[in-house]
Amino acid sequence: MTKRVVVTGASSGIGQATTRRLVAEGWQVVALARREDRLKALATQLGGACSYQVCDITDEESTQAAVDAILAAGPVKALVNCSGAARGKDPVASASLDDWRQMYELNVLGTLRITQKLLPALKDTAANQGGGTVLIISSTAGIEPYEGGAGYCASKSAERIMARVLRLEQIGQPLRVIDIAPGMVQTEEFSLKRFGGDRSKAASVYQGVPSPLTADDVADCAAWALAQPDRVDIDQIVVRPRAEGSYTKVFRQS
Ligand SMILES: NC(=O)c1ccc[n+]([C@@H]2O[C@H](COP(=O)([O-])OP(=O)(O)OC[C@H]3O[C@@H](n4cnc5c(N)ncnc54)[C@H](OP(=O)(O)O)[C@@H]3O)[C@@H](O)[C@H]2O)c1
Repeated sequence: MTKRVVVTGASSGIGQATTRRLVAEGWQVVALARREDRLKALATQLGGACSYQVCDITDEESTQAAVDAILAAGPVKALVNCSGAARGKDPVASASLDDWRQMYELNVLGTLRITQKLLPALKDTAANQGGGTVLIISSTAGIEPYEGGAGYCASKSAERIMARVLRLEQIGQPLRVIDIAPGMVQTEEFSLKRFGGDRSKAASVYQGVPSPLTADDVADCAAWALAQPDRVDIDQIVVRPRAEGSYTKVFRQS
């Protein structure tokens, strides 16, 4: 039976790399994000193994419509939650409430919303032999908070806790819950969006770091975890570039 997976955040970065990788491994992938032009181009490149759904996971109606359309087309064995963002890097004392709100709406509530809606289908063993998997791409920011990162770190910590508690609550059910927490990953848009399009600020994140992780490195981890037999639940993977001991201990070449 062909395995079908929904990948959120598939229009760029880690989600796009994960989509490509899972298609290469024989999955049918539903690529989900808001930007249709990018999803369409990806699906065209990948051929019949990739379809797409335009969806804003912070919006109830949009997410319900996407989930309805996905399930009408067939069963879903896995959900890979890659949609997410950081906004700003300001101290708690002066951080923008709007930045925090956007991160909570997307990283925490958006991930929760689509996970809740797909959960019954993921656990439907009549349609999915062996059961299903929820995978969340959280972050090492959810493990080790840093100055200026309180809003993002808190939202990523919430995602990690969501994964952990969901796993506890679903014990005995045909569901695996996997949390992958990457450190520094150099993707095209993540830091640029964090700093409101400021290219020099975005570039400074990776300045002098010999080899940050790539989106493909994280996609490898996700594909490996998903490829394990259904009885094997890879609870957590923490993956960083060799040059990064922690967010505040990064080797940089001058
Ligand atoms: N880059 C890093 O250093 C790093 C490290 C650790 C963890 N992470 C986490 O990994 C995930 C992916 O990061 P990335 O570097 O690949 O970032 P990215 O390239 O900016 O990708 C973010 C994705 O989220 C989608 N998205 C944003 N708002 C959305 C919404 N309302 N509804 C649906 N999709 C939405 C975007 O697509 P549209 O704009 O088309 O909707 C995009 O595809 C994020 O959760 C991030 O927190 C990143």
